Amino acid sequence: MKIVVTGGLGFIGSHTVVELQNENFEVVVVDNLSNSSIDVLDGIERITGKKPLFEQIDLRDKAAVQVFFQKHEDVAGVIHFAASKAVGESVKEPLLYYENNVASLVYILQELQKKQEANFIFSSSCTVYGQAEVMPIAETTPVQTAMSPYGNTKQIGEEIITDVTKVSNVNAILLRYFNPIGSHPSAEIGELPMGVPQNLVPFITQTGMGLRESLSVYGNDYPTVDGTCVRDYIHVVDLAKAHVIALQRLVNKKNAEKLEVFNLGTGTGSSVLEVISAFEKVSGQKLPYTIVPRREGDVTSVYANTDKANTVLGWKTQSTLEEAIASAWKWEQKVRNSR
Ligand code: NAD
Ligand code: WQD
Repeated sequence: MKIVVTGGLGFIGSHTVVELQNENFEVVVVDNLSNSSIDVLDGIERITGKKPLFEQIDLRDKAAVQVFFQKHEDVAGVIHFAASKAVGESVKEPLLYYENNVASLVYILQELQKKQEANFIFSSSCTVYGQAEVMPIAETTPVQTAMSPYGNTKQIGEEIITDVTKVSNVNAILLRYFNPIGSHPSAEIGELPMGVPQNLVPFITQTGMGLRESLSVYGNDYPTVDGTCVRDYIHVVDLAKAHVIALQRLVNKKNAEKLEVFNLGTGTGSSVLEVISAFEKVSGQKLPYTIVPRREGDVTSVYANTDKANTVLGWKTQSTLEEAIASAWKWEQKVRNSR
């Protein structure tokens, strides 16, 4: 069964390709390499014994998207990861984000809408909840006004897909990820941020390697267990497996509604200091860090209520925070030692 994975050479996409191939799906990766490397294909092959088909296409190119779907008219499902994801950059360059994250989505859906039947999975984000009042956050929690153009592209994306499923044969699942971290246990693929990492775990592992002098912890005066912000860090392999289950649900027509939404998190919140201490435990070294003022736009506490994904999808995370951080650390060491 042929599955298209857009952004399939990126962080979450590449791990999902591995899990799809492990379940014998035939994968076609579409990526423009704007935030990934062609070498990821080799990593996927080393893990699964199979190199997925690859088409280097920029999804902002409407004609190229049309040609692609004509060529692959037998596609059983599309998992759409391709997007730009840097929150700060999106504030400075909003139109880049609206074009890449919204226009591309529209072009893909235009092609899927022509089909007798189509299955679509969308990478959404817990950012759509903003700072929810009640923790843990269930899918019924109202979406809040977006705090950045990036966050807005996820909300607009969800709305576009909702509208399209009402009037077409497209069945869709929106997956709202909490904070994905870690890498495949083989360390053949992982997260490769370009430039200075904005996210906590890659910054920690780079600091652990000596590439960064010290981690800045953004604020310790939040109303949390130790004053630092709380997030729900999910191992990327657990996240990838959820995509396979969601896809199987669509292709086997087990979906209860044409549009379904699931939170993908562990259900447990961890503070920044807890993440640091997990890193220190798995790496056996002290992490240099200093407390600095709060980062603008950060919310205090965000973690998932995962009941719906647990019961309806029958999916549950398997890895602990320490296992996820250990995998990120193994990957970081391998990447740096090979350069
Ligand atoms: P990533 O940047 O590692 O992967 C995205 C991939 O899409 C990259 O390989 C990039 O080259 C490709 N791409 C971007 N624009 C493209 C275009 N126009 N045409 C073709 N390919 C294009 O990001 P990721 O962390 O793997 O995130 C995947 C998805 O999950 C994104 O939609 C992101 O918004 C969403 N998401 C990520 C997180 C996170 O913290 N990583 C959290 C919530 C949601
Ligand atoms: C986690 C915690 C920081 C870096 C972002 C996006 C969100 C989603 C996931 C895509 C926070 C603290 C971080 C550092 C720190 N992406 N921190 N020092 O902000 O929860 O979410 O990525 O959809 O939309 O906003 O993740 O990893 O940046 O931060 O103290 O150098 O670590 O303040 O509390 P965040 P993050």
